Amino acid sequence: MSAPQAEAVVDLDVYRANLAILREAAPTARQMAVVKADAYGHGLVPVARAAREAGAEWLGVATLDEALALRAGGDTGPVLCWLNAPGADYRAAHAAGVELTASSAEQLDEILAAADLRVRVQLKVDTGLSRNGARGPQWDALVDAAAREQASGRLEVGGTWSHLACADEPDHPANDAQQRVFEAAIAQLRAVGVEPGLRHLANSAATLLRPQAHYDLVRVGIASYGLTPGPAVDLRGLRPAMTLQARAAAVKRVPAGSGVSYGHTYVTERETTLVDVPLGYGEGVLRTASGRAEAGFAGRRVPVAGRICMDQLVVDVGDLPAERGDVVRLFGPGDHGEPTADEWGSAAGTIGYEVVTRLGGRVVRTYRGER
Ligand SMILES: Cc1ncc(COP(=O)(O)O)c(C=O)c1O
Repeated sequence: MSAPQAEAVVDLDVYRANLAILREAAPTARQMAVVKADAYGHGLVPVARAAREAGAEWLGVATLDEALALRAGGDTGPVLCWLNAPGADYRAAHAAGVELTASSAEQLDEILAAADLRVRVQLKVDTGLSRNGARGPQWDALVDAAAREQASGRLEVGGTWSHLACADEPDHPANDAQQRVFEAAIAQLRAVGVEPGLRHLANSAATLLRPQAHYDLVRVGIASYGLTPGPAVDLRGLRPAMTLQARAAAVKRVPAGSGVSYGHTYVTERETTLVDVPLGYGEGVLRTASGRAEAGFAGRRVPVAGRICMDQLVVDVGDLPAERGDVVRLFGPGDHGEPTADEWGSAAGTIGYEVVTRLGGRVVRTYRGER
């Protein structure tokens, strides 16, 4: 195969180092590496393998298909899966040794109905995010069902957990409020003789900002990829693991007054060099960053000129020498002058999470630091 013209280079040494930093931030808790959504666009199986090499005891995914893809990729360790609509193939989950999450008594019934033997399941309480998880009377019903099924010998509660809404805003009152609801939910379980198993509440932001929320395990996603959970968070040396780069498909010198890309929203102010980059929204590059984002070229920041197209975008490199095949970096750790995915998120009116997770299409992922 020819060398990829557009690639997302994922540095697994950086990813493992990020996990080590996050472990230092939560030294008393087990670590779950969250690898849902194709490891936030970084590639499920290679990232999962690196997570295990870095000592992550758990992997976390949303859907059963993701969990089964981990098993197909050779992972044999603890995996938690948390987002399944009715009709999910729980039998396959049990056969693969994937731990499921019950967000209601009905879901617990479905999960147990698919098991021939006693099965370990985690319970999710909605403490205030109002997504999945059981809340109020639903939680009461789940607690009753758990006590009943534990007594019948069909259920072992592997964990009890919830998810924070505002962990990236450390002073937000929702954090304390959610934690109080979480504590009460655990007390309610214990009152009926059910031990909660692994208690967990913290995402990346809470791992870095809220030690009192670490409990038995922390679930780290975005920070493990070296991106920020929010502006208030000190990244403590975490580095972006992914660089998105491509080789220039065309280079041209143009006079002042040249309109660039669809709609001519960018017009050159003076004679300049334009570099055509084979990356566009077909690869998940966010079109809303048109005219605002920058890229790295020859160690410098250069503007994305005009609209991002389906297959390509143009950067204005001024008077820097440029040739077809030169590397343009859209984002990465910044070592070559390129912005970070978080900066692209700001330019596109979104967050770094979306910038990396959207990547797809024709982008080839290549890995550094594979063992
Ligand atoms: C349930 C759950 N836990 C943990 C995470 C990881 O969050 P973050 O990427 O902010 O660390 C996510 C991701 O959104 C999640 O859905």
